[in-house]
Order: sequence, then C-alpha cells, then structure tokens
Amino acid sequence: MATLKQYTMDNMPSTGMLSGPIEGTLLQFLVWATGAKRVLEIGCFIGFSAQMMASALPEDGTLTTCEIDPDVAAIAQSHLDGSPDGHKIDIRIGPALETLRSAARAAANPRRLHADPQARLRGLARSS
Ligand SMILES: C[S@@+](CC[C@H](N)C(=O)[O-])C[C@H]1O[C@@H](n2cnc3c(N)ncnc32)[C@H](O)[C@@H]1O
Repeated sequence: MATLKQYTMDNMPSTGMLSGPIEGTLLQFLVWATGAKRVLEIGCFIGFSAQMMASALPEDGTLTTCEIDPDVAAIAQSHLDGSPDGHKIDIRIGPALETLRSAARAAANPRRLHADPQARLRGLARSS
C-alpha cells in the first residue's frame, strides 16, 4: 500500500483524491467488524480504499467499485492485478448512477443477463 501511495504522489495530478491511512484503516475495520461479504464503493480513484476494504473481506468476498474516469480506472486495475486481494475487486467504469441502475435492473430481472435465451432454455432442459 505504501507503493500505491508513492505512485499516486509521484504520478497523479490530483493527489488530494487519495484517502489517507486513517480513513483506509477505518474502512477496513468496518468491513471486518460487520462481517461484510459484499461491498459497493462509489469512487475508486487509484484503488487505495478498495484494497484496504478488500483485505478485510473473506476469500469469497467481493468489492464492486465505480469509477467514471477510464484512465484512472486502468491505473487502479494495473495495481490490483499485482495485489493479494485484487481478485476480489471489480472496477465498473462509468458514471456510478448508471452502474447502479444497470445492477438494479439485472438483479430485478436476472434473465436479462442471458444474451441468448435459446441457450438458457437448452440449459434448463438439460438440468431437468
Ligand atoms: C475522492 S476520489 C476516491 C478516493 C478513493 N476511494 C480512495 O480511497 O483512494 C473520487 C473518485 O470518484 C470518481 N468519480 C467522480 N464522480 C463519479 C461518478 N459520477 N461516478 C463514478 N466515479 C466518479 C473520481 O473520478 C475519483 O476518482
């Protein structure tokens, strides 16, 4: 995490966006204390708080984080790829409101996730 902070200080124009270690540790504690398995974050930036929270999730836990800036998201992803808890983190690029709307639509109507309804029917027939 020190590397991530140093990278931000050296390379990012908006260093003020980065959460500090106190905020990161508080978020990490809250995830641990609540026993959360799923976390939704609005505003990933470089992924510091996402990584802090993900470290407190169980191995099958997931953290979805929304980021409107694709360039920032790409940098965050490159740091997640080499991190111990990066596999728990899913960065959704775009306006958070849109991401939340499409997630709500998918949850309300899971069949819409299937691009090919015939394939879904064949799958159901095989399993019955
Ligand atoms: C304060 S920073 C987040 C800091 C980060 N959580 C951390 O701890 O390092 C806010 C981030 O939210 C992103 N953002 C701003 N508006 C957004 C929106 N409508 N949807 C998704 N992301 C947005 C910005 O690009 C920025 O990276």
